[in-house]
Amino acid sequence: MKPFRFILLALLAPFAGNAQHVTKLNLKPGGKQIISKQIYGHFAEHLGRCIYDGFWVDENSTIPNKDRIRLDVVDALKKIKVPNLRWPGGCFADEYHWRDGIGSRSERPKMVNTNWGGVIEDNSFGTHEFLQLCEMINCEPYFAANVGSGTVEEMAKWVEYLNFDGISPMASLRKENGREKPWKVSFWGVGNESWGCGGNMTAQYYSDLYKRYATYARNYAGAPLKRIASGANAEDYDWTETCMKNIGNQMWGLTLHYYTLPTGNWSKKGSATDFNEKQYFNTMKNCLKMEEIVSKHSAIMDKYDPDKKIALIVDEWGIWTDVEPGTNPGFLYQQNSLRDALIAGTTLNIFNNHSDRVQMANLAQTVNVLQALILTEKDKMLLTPTYHVFDLFQVHQDAKYLPIDFVSPDYVSENEKIKALNISASQDATGAIHISLVNLDPKNKINLKTSLDGLSWKSVTGQILTSKSVTDINTFADPGKVGISKFNGAKKEGAQLSVELPAQSVVVLKLI
Ligand code: AHR
Repeated sequence: MKPFRFILLALLAPFAGNAQHVTKLNLKPGGKQIISKQIYGHFAEHLGRCIYDGFWVDENSTIPNKDRIRLDVVDALKKIKVPNLRWPGGCFADEYHWRDGIGSRSERPKMVNTNWGGVIEDNSFGTHEFLQLCEMINCEPYFAANVGSGTVEEMAKWVEYLNFDGISPMASLRKENGREKPWKVSFWGVGNESWGCGGNMTAQYYSDLYKRYATYARNYAGAPLKRIASGANAEDYDWTETCMKNIGNQMWGLTLHYYTLPTGNWSKKGSATDFNEKQYFNTMKNCLKMEEIVSKHSAIMDKYDPDKKIALIVDEWGIWTDVEPGTNPGFLYQQNSLRDALIAGTTLNIFNNHSDRVQMANLAQTVNVLQALILTEKDKMLLTPTYHVFDLFQVHQDAKYLPIDFVSPDYVSENEKIKALNISASQDATGAIHISLVNLDPKNKINLKTSLDGLSWKSVTGQILTSKSVTDINTFADPGKVGISKFNGAKKEGAQLSVELPAQSVVVLKLI
C-alpha cells in the first residue's frame, strides 16, 4: 500500500467514515396495540450510591432537598415522565425487612448490606420515604417484596400497611407513623431473581412458593394488586415454561432479566469508556440479543396465554461494565457513553415493537449505578447520554403502536455482521406520528425512503443524539458533551419521508 493511502485509511479508521446505505421503509396505521408507558420505568436499589447520595442526602446537607430527597434529581426524572420506580432491590429486596424501615429514624435498626459492598444500611430510607419520592416524581411505585428470607406473614402485613383503609393493626401502625390514607400500591413483585440471589430455587419450587406468598398478598378495597412473579435469567426458557404452566393467570406479570455485557463474560465485563471498534461491535451484538430473548420468552407465553393477558416485564436491563477504576467494586458505579445511549435506544425500540407482550420494563439503575440516567458528585449532578434517550423516547409513552416494514443494512466488522438499523413508531393522542431510529454503524450513514400508507402528515421535525466518538461521555467538567440537538436530515418529498440518518446516532422524528 502506498504510504499516503495508508495514512488516509488510518485517519478514517476505526470510528469514522461517510459511506451510505439506502433502505426502504413502510409505515402502516396501527390497530389497538398501545405502547405502555410502563416500559419506560426505572429501578432504584439500596446499592452503592443509588439511594444514599443519589436520592437521599444527609440531614444537614446544603444540597437543595425536600425532607432529605434531592430536588435536582427529582426534577430531572419528572422531565422525562418516569412512569414507575422499582424498589428496594434487586438482590437487596430478598434481605430487606420492611419493618426495619418505618417509624422514628433514630430507632431504626441498622443492617449489613451483604450483597453490595458489606456497608452498613441505616434504614433511614424506608417505605414512607420511597413513597414520598414516588409522589414527588409523580410515578407509580413498584415494590419487590422479600421471598428469599422473609415470611409470608411479613409480606402480607406489608400489603395491609400500604393498602388497607380501615381499622386493623397495620393500618393503625401506618397512621401512628404519620400516614392516614393508604397509598394503594399496585405493582407487587413476589421475590427477585429467585433462581439466584433471591434464594437459589428451582423454577418448580419457586412457582409453588409464589402461589403461597401471592395468596396472602391481598387485594384490599380499591387497591387490587398486580402480582408479578420473579422470572427468568436471560435465556433460561425452562423457567418461563414452568412458571406459565404452574402459576398461569395467578400472576399479572412475569419478569425477565437480561444485561448487555460488552465481552459477554461476567468476570471481565469490559470498560465503560475505553473500548475499540471490535469491542463496540461485540457489545452491540450482545445488546441486540434482547430481540431474540424477548421473542422466545413471548412465544412460550403465547402457548399458555394466547390472548396475551400476562405481561412480560423486563425489570432489569442495561449495559453492565467493569466499575470505574478506583471505585468500590460492590457499588457498581460506571460511566455512560454514547455507546450506552445507542443501547438504550435499541432496547426501547425492541420493547416498543414487542409491546403486545412487554408491558413494563425497568432500566438498571436510576442514579450512580450501572447504566444510570444520572450521576451525582456531592452537590453536582449530570445527565448521561442514556438520560437523553429516555427524554427523546418519552413521546412513545401510551401511544398507539405503528407497525413498520424494512430491511436493515448490515453493520460489518471484520468477518461478522449485525443489523445497523432499528426503528419503532407510534401515534399519539393528538395524531402526531413519532419515529425513533437508531443507527448502530459507527462509520456509515443510512438513507431512508419511507412510505406511510394510509397515514396523513404535512411536515416533519426531529431531534438527534450523537457525538464524534461512541466513547464520548458527559463529565462533571463537561456535562453537555453528549446532548440532544435539532435534526435537519428529514424532509417530505411528495408523499414520501426521506431521512439521512448519521452514523452512530439516535434520531426521533415528529410528523404532524
Ligand atoms: O442491578 C444489580 C443486580 O443485578 C440486582 O440486584 C440483581 O437483581 C441483579 O443480579
